[in-house]
Amino acid sequence: MPDQKTVSFPRDFLWGAATSAYQIEGAVQEDGRTPSIWDTFSHTPGRTAGGDTGDVAVDHYHRYREDVAMMADLGLTAYRFSVSWPRVQPTGRGPAVQRGLDFYRRLVDELLSHGIKPAVTLYHWDLPQELEDAGGWPERETALRFAEYAHLVGEALGDRVEQWITLNEPWCSAFLGYGSGVHAPGRTEPAAALRAAHHLNLAHGLGTSALRSVLPARDTVAVSLNSSAVRPLSQDPRDLAAVRRIDNLANGVFHGPMLHGAYPEGLFEQTASVTDWSYVLDGDLDAIHQPLDALGLNYYTPALVSSAETAPEGQRADGHGDSAYSPWPGSEDVAFHQTPGDRTEMGWTIDPTGLHELITRYAREAPGLPLYITENGAACDDKPDAEGRVHDPERIAYLHGHLSAVRRAIGDGVDVRGYYLWSLMDNFEWAYGYGKRFGAVYVDYATQKRTPKSSAQWYGQAAKTGTLAPLTEAG
Ligand code: FCB
Repeated sequence: MPDQKTVSFPRDFLWGAATSAYQIEGAVQEDGRTPSIWDTFSHTPGRTAGGDTGDVAVDHYHRYREDVAMMADLGLTAYRFSVSWPRVQPTGRGPAVQRGLDFYRRLVDELLSHGIKPAVTLYHWDLPQELEDAGGWPERETALRFAEYAHLVGEALGDRVEQWITLNEPWCSAFLGYGSGVHAPGRTEPAAALRAAHHLNLAHGLGTSALRSVLPARDTVAVSLNSSAVRPLSQDPRDLAAVRRIDNLANGVFHGPMLHGAYPEGLFEQTASVTDWSYVLDGDLDAIHQPLDALGLNYYTPALVSSAETAPEGQRADGHGDSAYSPWPGSEDVAFHQTPGDRTEMGWTIDPTGLHELITRYAREAPGLPLYITENGAACDDKPDAEGRVHDPERIAYLHGHLSAVRRAIGDGVDVRGYYLWSLMDNFEWAYGYGKRFGAVYVDYATQKRTPKSSAQWYGQAAKTGTLAPLTEAG
């Protein structure tokens, strides 16, 4: 049943869109930038669909003015983007390259001059290759390097950017990068994945302190987590135990240290055959457990798990995605299941209740901390019609459903301050290359022409009015 009611948001709610550097910038060899792990990975045969790379992406490095003007036309009030680490600190150590920083200064000034609030993510997966060559995230040194990088960027942009995000989805960096290997650097070493998770936590903590030492007091520091709504296939105690184990690896491994100063109960035991956690040194948990000003939640779809023992024959999946290797170290006895319901082009089930569930969980785990939905959106099979227009009613329905879930949570008393649609425009979707379109704006990759889809118009209208048009009118 289409929703007929108008849904209204608080007046100062931020209506944003999100992107990340490697997915949109291109210009990978300009102004002193060096390769990141994603350049290396995407140029390795067989790693991305069709061998796609971010070499050109959507050429945002050269078209940022046009892109900001487009955001302003649509009516967006906020924009979340990431800084490319190898663009501003090519070797991952030492002084910053001013030309790299200047690009972000110009971008931020452009945003501010259009009344759009910038939110900067420091790390959206593009580790300088040189740091991976030295061992990457499994090594403690990488966390120290991140703190130095955070300091450099904070110093350069702190006067004009008020919202800061240390890491984007450290789960993906650790477990897809070093566990299942479907993301850069493509390693498949379960112990390294857990070491990476700890050092990403440490990077977040040290990075937060480094930012605090240079940012004006009014600036806010947050982290964006792709926390997962993990659900049991049945109430069988074995399935409930499977949920606890996956919840520890999906959520607790980050929430624990970052929000509570301790790894969650059971995590060390359930991974004991993989690692002994001896790299968690005295003082690390205090360093990680920094006061935050806000939390960012990225949400796409819930997870459904059971014990492998109880899983019905034929319904069992290993949760590895497209890899022969697991992103869930020490969880061979857990089975993953397709959640019921319609799916997006990614095969991800559409379920806004998962978003509401996670917002509520954050409110419980981090009482009083303002929340932002820092990513949410859908890949659809978008194609221009004969007039060149792109109609994407599925995306409008997805956004309507999820924004309504956000509004419900606000009604329940949770302090959700903004929403960033993933993504502003179609872009390089990591291992899927350009085949999956998440944009509110269509990009013709041959010409780089941008065409706002009907969802962009619908979302812009929501941003301008602070209300969601009923679906029947959205068309
Ligand atoms: C998230 C990533 C983002 C994008 C979306 C679809 O995991 O943070 O870059 O790829 O998924």
